[in-house]
Amino acid sequence: MCGIVAYIGSREAYPILIKGLRRLEYRGYDSAGVALLNKGNLSVYKKEGKVAVLEDFAKNHDIAGNIGIGHTRWATHGVPCDRNAHPHLSNSHRLAIIHNGIIENYASLKAELETRGYVFESDTDTEVLLNLIEDIQKEEKRTIEEAVRVALNEVVGAYAIVVIDKNEPDKIIAARKGSPLVIGIGQNEFFVASDASPIIEYTNNVVYLNDEEFAVLNRNGQLDIKTLGNLEKTPYIQKLEMDLEKIEKGGYEHFMLKEIYEQPQVILDCMRGRMNAEQGWIKLGGVNEYATRINNAKRIIITACGTSWHSGLIGEYLIEELARVPVEVEYASEFRYRNPIVTQNDVVLAISQSGETADTLSAIQIAKERQALIYGICNVIGSSIAREAHAGSYTHAGPEIGVASTKAFTVQVTILTLMALQLAQSKGTISQSRLRTILYEMEQVPEKVKQTLKLDVKIKEIAAKYFEAKNFLYLGRGLAFPIALEGALKLKEISYIHAEGYPAAEMKHGPIALIDENMPVVFIATNKSAHEKIVSNIQEVKARKGKVIAIILEGDETIKGLADDYIEVPDTDELLSPLVAIVPLQLLSYHIALMRGCNVDQPRNLAKSVTVE
Ligand code: F6R
Repeated sequence: MCGIVAYIGSREAYPILIKGLRRLEYRGYDSAGVALLNKGNLSVYKKEGKVAVLEDFAKNHDIAGNIGIGHTRWATHGVPCDRNAHPHLSNSHRLAIIHNGIIENYASLKAELETRGYVFESDTDTEVLLNLIEDIQKEEKRTIEEAVRVALNEVVGAYAIVVIDKNEPDKIIAARKGSPLVIGIGQNEFFVASDASPIIEYTNNVVYLNDEEFAVLNRNGQLDIKTLGNLEKTPYIQKLEMDLEKIEKGGYEHFMLKEIYEQPQVILDCMRGRMNAEQGWIKLGGVNEYATRINNAKRIIITACGTSWHSGLIGEYLIEELARVPVEVEYASEFRYRNPIVTQNDVVLAISQSGETADTLSAIQIAKERQALIYGICNVIGSSIAREAHAGSYTHAGPEIGVASTKAFTVQVTILTLMALQLAQSKGTISQSRLRTILYEMEQVPEKVKQTLKLDVKIKEIAAKYFEAKNFLYLGRGLAFPIALEGALKLKEISYIHAEGYPAAEMKHGPIALIDENMPVVFIATNKSAHEKIVSNIQEVKARKGKVIAIILEGDETIKGLADDYIEVPDTDELLSPLVAIVPLQLLSYHIALMRGCNVDQPRNLAKSVTVE
């Protein structure tokens, strides 16, 4: 939610900022802006819309300067417009700021500043924070870093900020609490960004700031980090393991398509070294580390949001089925606000692609206070949730840039499957031969996903038949129910078609009233144990003239004879079927969205990483 980038050194800042903003655009694209400091002049250019609009605007202006900050916005306080775009200037126009997060007590701070004569040009909480910094700087005669520190002690909320001061042109100040921030260290130069993607081509030495820390980045190459309590910290420099190629589109038309096609490889990468079918073992490092607590857990609580919550539902089925441990799956946003009963006998699994989702982060903080063991399943290495958790498993899918989550989902399900199997093996709830059979089948999954991707042409034809529909229903039973939810979410978020996922058997308790000849109903019929029942549900839809699109296993003649359209996917062990069944639904929504002229990588109103409540 909002991307920030900054540079100080001897290069021209503007090209670095713009390139960085393009890479961070997945985090928000309501407006974009830069501030550049050059020979005592502070210039700010900002425009509503995407980074390209800003670039177009800035090309007729002076963009020189070796210090700069840039921002791409996902609006929280104030509508998207030039005025509310970042960077913001302080009243004296001496300071400029970029901010990702929310200052919750901004209203009272603003009222107080207004009584002291401050005037606000925007509706944002960020401008309030900046003027608070300016006020402290002026009134208390403090350096910029001191003013930032004192101000941040007064604010409630979340932030990753960078501040520059026209009168102190040899440094920039960065601080964070609850929103991500990485510092890249070059030769007498520094980069700051919301994630490492804008930094990677310049340096792979990075420092991740911790919550309630701030950094002073000096042009002479000196880096000072302190806590908000004014304690000095020694910077912990880490090596980035990110590949530039992986953050480019690599010949695909969209990131989403590239990421869908990466699934065979990332599932393989995710399993690598963690299982061996031949020898019949599974080894998730994080599970081994806390084996006693995990094996003895009375209950597992899975908490997540959106797509990650859907993978959590699959985790529930798998863990209960294989390891016979009770599992609850909770929306993190509900969990954190309902005084949940959590004890030291619980294990809380937090699932998050970004590792920065504010609700999920808060949920685990609550569970941690109540002594539960926190296990993170994250994709982004070094992310806040990964760091807050006691243990965890990275999904190793590489950067996911398309706003609609695709490959992150399949690797989350892969980890959850391994976890369920490892737990089942330790608890003795699975026979060694059944375990081996599943592991052998798991090894085949990447190839089966690859085969499913070959159905793209047919899926596109089906998309062409239905792309003008106003509503869609997605139905599935058992393990196919979360897939129905996920298929519906993919469609609605990128094509803006209203779509609902439902347990197929629940249809008759309400949604069946929606069915007529204009309603496409997508059935996920890939779990054999529910076959007869799903056939009956298809009949019920056909009897009401609904249009049936069925995801079936190869050779399912019964459903072929009933469905208006069908997509045949390779058979696998039923417990692994979600990993294959989701793929045609991702492609279906991709093609439908394109046919409707939607921006699939940057759907309206959304942002990749939701760092606000
Ligand atoms: C849907 C989507 C969102 C995310 C959700 C959680 O395609 O991307 O629903 O799944 O915002 O994000 P993470 O997994 O980063 O916590």
